Amino acid sequence: MTGVTDLLREDLRGRQPYGAPQIDVPVRLNTNENSYPLPEPVVEALQRALAKELAGLNRYPDRDAVALRTDLAAYLGHGLTRDQVWAANGSNEVQQQLLQAFGGPGRTALGFTPSYSMHPLLAAGTGTGWVDGRRGAGFDLTPAEAAAQVRAHRPHLVFLCSPNNPTGTALPLPVLEAVLEEAPGLVVVDEAYAEFARAGTGSALALLADHPYLVVTRTMSKAFGFAGGRVGYLAAAPEVVAALQLVRLPYHLSSLTQAAARAALAHAGVLLGTVEAIKQQRDRLVTELRRRGATVADSDANFVLFGGLGDQRAVWQGLVERGVLVRDVGLAGWLRVTAGTPAETDAFLAALDQVWRPAPAPSSAAPPSAGSTAAGRGAGTLEAEASGAGGSQLRRKPG
Ligand SMILES: Cc1ncc(COP(=O)(O)O)c(C=O)c1O
Repeated sequence: MTGVTDLLREDLRGRQPYGAPQIDVPVRLNTNENSYPLPEPVVEALQRALAKELAGLNRYPDRDAVALRTDLAAYLGHGLTRDQVWAANGSNEVQQQLLQAFGGPGRTALGFTPSYSMHPLLAAGTGTGWVDGRRGAGFDLTPAEAAAQVRAHRPHLVFLCSPNNPTGTALPLPVLEAVLEEAPGLVVVDEAYAEFARAGTGSALALLADHPYLVVTRTMSKAFGFAGGRVGYLAAAPEVVAALQLVRLPYHLSSLTQAAARAALAHAGVLLGTVEAIKQQRDRLVTELRRRGATVADSDANFVLFGGLGDQRAVWQGLVERGVLVRDVGLAGWLRVTAGTPAETDAFLAALDQVWRPAPAPSSAAPPSAGSTAAGRGAGTLEAEASGAGGSQLRRKPG
């Protein structure tokens, strides 16, 4: 008899599952959650909303989540209506459904590494071929480079991420325009962190009306502080939403999830009240890390990628031993830290000061070396990218 692993699909054998460590330490800054618990009035509103659902749990939920999609469309604005919005258990599930419907065996998806590690994993799970697109020095991506890679591979889906995880930088608008111009299939812009973007940074939502192949995914897991609620969503042409009905499981979003998400959205103002405080800690992290000699880009997200660390695994381990969990994203010399509360920033910086001292110049200005996900991406610094590409970010020039 063969072992179960021999029965596994050949293309999944030997692969590693998504596995950000869930270690029980006092300061958890590794998965870009919102560190602030939900405020009491919102907790009470959720309790009331959930209580109303309980007796009706003998029935299946609204399969089409119409009320929730209507609320999400209203939150997004841009004149969007519910037939342009779709929701699922996290934006991961939304993206999986996109790959199920538009990818699959014999089809390909292209992303530009380093980016969100789930995009290639979701592609693998759906049997979609993954093309690891290249970035330039300092992880930057120019319109010409992006368009050339789309032209060369003609993928059925392109994944872009703005602000990009793990670099934190917003996608330059001309890159999106160049990809939209060239792409023969869907262009998915993952905007999980959009609410944390700096003033003047635009959203791909503004381009939806003119681009039927564009899909923008969002989540309630980050700015809304609703990661445990598992609600992600997308905005796209009604035809894309209709296509996803072919692959979504019936009743995929429970009545409890729908009710909780609607109650949370009704308190969007209160929930998003933590965003400014988090942005302050993010900017403080950028300043403090630079002051200590790390290589850091300005961030539009609720996390910061910092480099020049030498052996990042040793730094990561030293931080864990001091009760601070950050993320090793597989880039040699780099770590990513989530912006949380002021006390969490204090604890992180205090621990870092105990475990890392920058090497004297010039080695402290070492370029990002090729890590497991950035092989062959060339040298450069994120600071160079941040200043050099600033004018072409999804960012309006002043005035
Ligand atoms: C870029 C990006 N997209 C999507 C997600 C997943 O979000 P969700 O919790 O909605 O599945 C994450 C989570 O870390 C992320 O970083």
